[in-house]
Amino acid sequence: MGDDLTRRGFIRTAAAGSAGLAWGGHRPRNAFAATTDKPALLGGAPVHKSGWPQWPEWREAWEPEIVEVLRSGRWSSSGGGGQVADFETAYARLLGADRCLATSSGTTALTTAMHVIGVDAGDEVITSPFTFIATYNTILMLKALPVFADTDPATLTMDPASIESRITERTRAIVPVHIYGMPCDMDPINAIAKKHNLAVIEDACQAWLADYKGRKCGTLGDLGCFSFQNSKHIPAGEGGAITGMRDDLLDRCHAFHNCGRAHGTFQGNGYFSRGTNFRMTHYQAAMLRQQLDKLVAETARRQENADHLTARLQAIPGIQPVRLPDRSRAVWHLYAFRYDPAQFHGLPRDKFIKALRAEGIPCGGGYHEQYYDGLLDDAIDSRGFKRLFPAERLKAYRDSLKDLKGNKQVCETTVALFHSMLLADRADMDHVIEAIQRVQTHSHALAS
Ligand SMILES: Cc1ncc(COP(=O)(O)O)c(C=O)c1O
Repeated sequence: MGDDLTRRGFIRTAAAGSAGLAWGGHRPRNAFAATTDKPALLGGAPVHKSGWPQWPEWREAWEPEIVEVLRSGRWSSSGGGGQVADFETAYARLLGADRCLATSSGTTALTTAMHVIGVDAGDEVITSPFTFIATYNTILMLKALPVFADTDPATLTMDPASIESRITERTRAIVPVHIYGMPCDMDPINAIAKKHNLAVIEDACQAWLADYKGRKCGTLGDLGCFSFQNSKHIPAGEGGAITGMRDDLLDRCHAFHNCGRAHGTFQGNGYFSRGTNFRMTHYQAAMLRQQLDKLVAETARRQENADHLTARLQAIPGIQPVRLPDRSRAVWHLYAFRYDPAQFHGLPRDKFIKALRAEGIPCGGGYHEQYYDGLLDDAIDSRGFKRLFPAERLKAYRDSLKDLKGNKQVCETTVALFHSMLLADRADMDHVIEAIQRVQTHSHALAS
């Protein structure tokens, strides 16, 4: 892997800087001479000058198979078989899932899975507020209410202890989100679901190959959903998949995503049941299948670099790496940590991010409190939702958003790095650490 990465080289956003190259090798812990240098935001030279791996990445070696699909004229997967079926088989095998169904996106995978497990108009679905907006939207599109469990500030994922109090007689499913590729604590979530007879659909759209107690995310609930959108670890522009262990559910998913055509064990009451067209094309599948080995190798590389960052960052006061469930492995779609301004002379998070960016370390704040962005009010105020839910339920729902104290804290204090940075060299990881140390050393000046 290391050789492969070195050989192909990364497209750098700037010429390789002498500072970065001169360091080479490994330095002793917290002994970066340059941490005392003037921060870039105050006119100093940036810690990291040589850019970062670009994403997504194209390989010429993939072209013959894709061109073959294009020349064949057989682009749609409606007839079955071909590249889509090959990808489904390979992806299921990689995850240890019995079945995989390719879809047109992660959003359509979630929609299909939720429809099939029976989320219907007027239902409620418990999910995480700290997620990409598609998780909310999917539930709303099914005319169901996304009820948010709180976020555990230590893990950034759904706090299992906050689920049960939110279950009502309308609750149909729990949708844990393995955000940033970090597995949720699935044992307690599955236990609550079992106790209350609820389905579990994993939003694993950012968690390809993430591991929880020896099993892959996407195989831990009733169904798992993945995204292969452009920014993802295995991108095809757009694309998605549903994984699972149960033929009855996967056959229903297949029927629904293929205009409702009967499939396998699911024959419906006539040839057509309710459905839509959420199919993947063969050229998308040809791109995806050829990236699987790369995904495996790059996942290991990201994990190695993330482990290094975590070990060093936890020694910096005011920087708190994320806690993962026991015996689990994250795949780091984003590498996130929590930031405490009190340890940086009150330097606000946004200014900390600005200072790191000036040092050549691209980063951001992650998700904000999106439930105040208007989409929930829009839904609650709609004719359909007013017909489906009693007014007092909608009011209580609206009021309950302010109870998401853990999530608010997470939204205000998280800092995240994009996954492709974790494909860089160990010395580049050391630049991240050094930049944070430099900002801390000068935090008084930066804050004033
Ligand atoms: C957590 C999560 N859920 C759902 C989706 C939706 O996937 P897609 O963009 O492929 O529709 C995404 C994509 O970014 C995601 O990150």
